[in-house]
Amino acid sequence: MKNILIIGSTGQIGSELVLKLRKTYGGGHVVAGYIVGAEPKGELLGSGPAEIADITNTQQLIDIVKKYNIDTIYNLAALLSAVAESKPQLAWHIGMNGLVNVLEIAREYKCAVFTPSSIGAFGPDAPKKHTPQDTIQRPQTMYGVTKVAGELLSDYYFRRYGVDTRSVRYPGLISNVTLPGGGTTDYAVDIFYSAVKTKKFTCPLPAGTFMDMMYMPDALDAAVDLMEADPARLKHRNSFNVTTMSFDPEILAAEIRKHISEFTMDYKIDEVRKAIADSWPDSLDDSCARTEWDWNPKYDLSTMTSDMLAILSKKHEQGLI
Ligand code: SER
Repeated sequence: MKNILIIGSTGQIGSELVLKLRKTYGGGHVVAGYIVGAEPKGELLGSGPAEIADITNTQQLIDIVKKYNIDTIYNLAALLSAVAESKPQLAWHIGMNGLVNVLEIAREYKCAVFTPSSIGAFGPDAPKKHTPQDTIQRPQTMYGVTKVAGELLSDYYFRRYGVDTRSVRYPGLISNVTLPGGGTTDYAVDIFYSAVKTKKFTCPLPAGTFMDMMYMPDALDAAVDLMEADPARLKHRNSFNVTTMSFDPEILAAEIRKHISEFTMDYKIDEVRKAIADSWPDSLDDSCARTEWDWNPKYDLSTMTSDMLAILSKKHEQGLI
């Protein structure tokens, strides 16, 4: 039986991953780690244990690992790309010093570790379309620098110490539960909330900006399926390209218009986010994930859009958003 600690459990991925893992492994076996100011609430709090787990506080993490006999850590603590550009030193501190803490604890207490990487791990010199699994990366954002360094360090801990580190390079994640906050791909979430609430959206990225995206249920499956994968089949570890769709703002707006015909979009460009997006791939090649651990996502642009709009419309009717 697994005993799991999720660091960053109240964030965009964590708030849904905790509940999925508790359904699979039992509520008592999944500890929701959080920082002061981002406390778990509702079902997240009621369905299992929660502990303060600041990734930069080594002793706090050790105490939790010992108390719950933790054998698997999902390390979801990070600043997203745009906010990381405004606080690069803090982004490094959380992304790298935090990761070193997690890896050292994993080495000593024999834990497996999942740490997300990102499309942000690629920079402008990487091939733009169908970016291969193994290619030049050289990101130019602090977010990307921490992601590449994290990939390399995680592979090092596997090779040198046998720590079972695994990772995927997530694209923009679209969900209807917890807002992302501070990312370059956030527009692809915000547009759905605006479409449902006001039928119009002001887009911060220009038409023609293509990026990979993924609906949250597929993102959660990616994390869990990779951590459950047969290690003998893994030629890569940190980190696997994964994707499900690539679109620009116009394509997404057109898809939303199939459901809300009055929906309109105009543009007010955020230059910081535009520069970041321009340096990232348009689309990733995820064939290694498909071959090595049977990555097989379920949602495309059409099914994701229908589901997002149905769920958010209901929430809007109920006055929840
Ligand atoms: N969604 C992230 C961001 O935009 C990319 O991994 O920062």
